[in-house]
Amino acid sequence: MTLVTDAPAEVGAVQAYTATLIIRRFDPDVDAEPYWQDFDVEVYSTDRVLDALHKIKWEQDGSLTFRRSCAHGICGSDAMRINGKNRLACKTLIKDLDISKPIYVEAIKGLPLEKDLIVDMEPFFESYRSINPFLMATSKPEKGKERVQSVVARERFDDTTKCILCAACTSSCPVFWTDGQYFGPAAIVNAHRFIFDDRDEGAQVRLDILNDKEGVWRCRTTFNCSEACPRGIQVTQAIAEVKQAILRGKP
Ligand code: SF4
Ligand code: FES
Repeated sequence: MTLVTDAPAEVGAVQAYTATLIIRRFDPDVDAEPYWQDFDVEVYSTDRVLDALHKIKWEQDGSLTFRRSCAHGICGSDAMRINGKNRLACKTLIKDLDISKPIYVEAIKGLPLEKDLIVDMEPFFESYRSINPFLMATSKPEKGKERVQSVVARERFDDTTKCILCAACTSSCPVFWTDGQYFGPAAIVNAHRFIFDDRDEGAQVRLDILNDKEGVWRCRTTFNCSEACPRGIQVTQAIAEVKQAILRGKP
């Protein structure tokens, strides 16, 4: 397919282009297999892939199905594969892609495809829940009110607090693609967030869970997860730190 550029038209100060999106469609009620469908859509250089998907849905094909909520990189609901890389559609500016070529959009991999760009996230959240993603503490807080934490202690796990559970990391992991039982990077990131929190008393419980055969040792350090994370979390490093904590105890 070819792009797309009518001579860029000026709309105020913003250029307009015709972009071609090639979207992998699937409707379980009528399709035996997914198939690719082309859409030409007028976009502006300030538009994101999510804007283009909205235009297609609102102006060309109302059956196009995808998730989104916040549209600003916070809710984590619109992770998808864009030109073969996991990204949030709402954080991917079309002008940052190669607009001389079509833009390929498909659902993230490794989770059951439900319809078009939507996958069943339940296996992902099941892994997340299994690592106890909440503060575990039986002791009473000092003075009975709150658990005070130093700035330095808070910084220890700051990176992994940024997770928005978009699944871009887990669904970019080749081990997860081939072994649906693997906890996956996101679950380990969220375990890390509590394991290294000095107010938490459940680190050993989580380390024992992740020492399982489907736990951290399945990681092959391919770095796909760190590259995919829209929050810039050093996912592979977090996994390495959890491995170290299993071997040597929580530092
Ligand atoms: S670690 Fe990053 S990529 Fe993985 S679920 Fe969290 S925000 Fe998404
Ligand atoms: S729509 Fe919420 S992160 Fe993209």
